[in-house]
Amino acid sequence: MRIGIGNDHVAVEYKKVISEYITEKYGYEVVNYGTDSTERFNYPESGKKVAEAVASGKVDRGILICGTGVGIGIAANKVKGIRCVICSEPYSAKLSRQHNDTNVLSFGARVIGIELAKMIVDNWLVTEFEAGRHKVRVDMIGKIEQEI
Ligand code: RB5
Repeated sequence: MRIGIGNDHVAVEYKKVISEYITEKYGYEVVNYGTDSTERFNYPESGKKVAEAVASGKVDRGILICGTGVGIGIAANKVKGIRCVICSEPYSAKLSRQHNDTNVLSFGARVIGIELAKMIVDNWLVTEFEAGRHKVRVDMIGKIEQEI
């Protein structure tokens, strides 16, 4: 599994800790699309890069981190084929995989502590999409993209 990771200036250290955690625990390759500088950085740039990498299949899934996780997650959701969950707790992370087949996860470095972030990442990475009735709904989301 290849994970694309993106962040803004607020989440540089946080991104490094999460990247190492994923590599060490799961052995997944983590591809860095974020900034490594604490100079102001506009989060849509990194959100778009990760989202495009997921949509094109360069990476399997994406993880985004900014101050709240909100802006960078909204940017990712503008890219066709992206279903990004912005969440602060493991329950939504898990259910977003089971029911919504989310392919990008976003959270906020200023909102949650690093240990809670690891729990969210764990739940999101290991949970499979249940498909069935949920696939009908996810397909409906995809159709909205085709209409606009
Ligand atoms: C940066 O100050 C902040 O706006 C950004 O990290 C994020 O929280 C936006 O949604």
